[in-house]
Amino acid sequence: MSMPITELGTAALREHLADELVRTRARSAALTDAVDDGELVRQHSRLMSPLVWDLAHIGNQEELWLVRDVGGRDPLRADIDHLYDAVKHSRPDRPALPLLDPTQTRRYLGEVRGKVLDVLERAPLTGRPLLEHGFAFGMIVQHEQQHDETMLATHQLRVGPAALHAPVPEPERSTDSPAEVLVPAGEFTMGTSTEPWALDNERPAHRACTGAYWLDTTPVTNRDYQAFLADGGYDDPRWWSERGWAHRCGAALVAPQFWYLDGGSWWRNRFGIMEPVPPEEPVMHVSFFEAQAYAAWAGKRLPTEVEWEKAARFDPATGRSRRFPWGDKDPTPAHANLGQRHLQPAAAGSYPAGASPLGVHQLIGDVWEWTSSGFSGYPGFVAFPYREYSEVFFGGDYRMLRGGSFGTDAAACRGTFRNWDHPVRRQIFTGFRCARDASPGERPGLG
Ligand code: AVJ
Ligand code: FE
Repeated sequence: MSMPITELGTAALREHLADELVRTRARSAALTDAVDDGELVRQHSRLMSPLVWDLAHIGNQEELWLVRDVGGRDPLRADIDHLYDAVKHSRPDRPALPLLDPTQTRRYLGEVRGKVLDVLERAPLTGRPLLEHGFAFGMIVQHEQQHDETMLATHQLRVGPAALHAPVPEPERSTDSPAEVLVPAGEFTMGTSTEPWALDNERPAHRACTGAYWLDTTPVTNRDYQAFLADGGYDDPRWWSERGWAHRCGAALVAPQFWYLDGGSWWRNRFGIMEPVPPEEPVMHVSFFEAQAYAAWAGKRLPTEVEWEKAARFDPATGRSRRFPWGDKDPTPAHANLGQRHLQPAAAGSYPAGASPLGVHQLIGDVWEWTSSGFSGYPGFVAFPYREYSEVFFGGDYRMLRGGSFGTDAAACRGTFRNWDHPVRRQIFTGFRCARDASPGERPGLG
């Protein structure tokens, strides 16, 4: 959008919210219309819900927050709330529930949406924190987009002929970047208190500090990763943490998920299409433990979450933190590979227009990036509007993921956005980049 949400008048804000709801629903529909009813109700992996569960859950969250809470209207289907409560039923248990069938689900979503558009015409968009700048609507748009990325990951796990298609990304690309840049030591502002649709875990803005560190200007590529494989990286416990090695052995990991060795070369299954692993693309479908082992083999380490955000937001020229690496403007297709326009990351070094002031590429979009940090609240954290979005996960066995992937929508991605997952997970569109400590007095260009 051309104008920041905070500068829109009420009518323009309502129109923007309606557009975002409609745009987002088109994606949910495309992801679920792509397969037949049998595939919608099937559980393609124990890690994932049946697609029909995600779809009804999207509608149920929309009903809970926008019809009942914001709109003050009577429930449409209070009887099904418990079925779509993610806390009550874990993913493996969901297929056995008496779920709405695909036809009932689509009808339910339509009914909820009709009421929501009516609520949107009348609701005040100020006066309580949930309404300010349309936050509740923005939260529901982001929630649906997050489940759309989850459904995309389900598509990647499903077996059978390709159901989704998109053009290969061919963005502008610079090939003359240095491999690493030096990020100077010092404080910067992390998190946000002003981003209108930022979720509770991104708040509040606070000062954070790092030492000087070198950061890779691109995510680690398939070519880089294959060198680790070829060097016997998966058979050498030296590179792995103790937990990582135990997992590598227990799960018999030999390569990224969806990779297959055929006649001495690596192929991959990408949404049902077998193709040679493209060397220039960021590696993905690796666990935190694999990312950590690669980094050790390369003589480096994973960045902390603070280091990642500083590289993505801090502008050394002004001392300010930006919304995105390129500035404060919302992403366009020239900045980043977001929004499921493509079904794969773009080659490393792509999107020079989206690089940070220090010249770090692809921090936003392409692949989520593992960081070495666990999940906790920032100083002054307040759960809002519900504890189950973030707070209940604090201190759990998670590692923070940053930056979004090709499967992430711009509405659910920004320099402050925080995602998390278990360190063993690989089905998400996640890669990583490496960092290393700088020695005191080291300067750019001398490394
Ligand atoms: C923030 C992506 C970890 O998908 O589990 C969706 C987002 N929260 N519904 C998830 C979320 C509630 C969440 N992640
Ligand atoms: Fe959800």
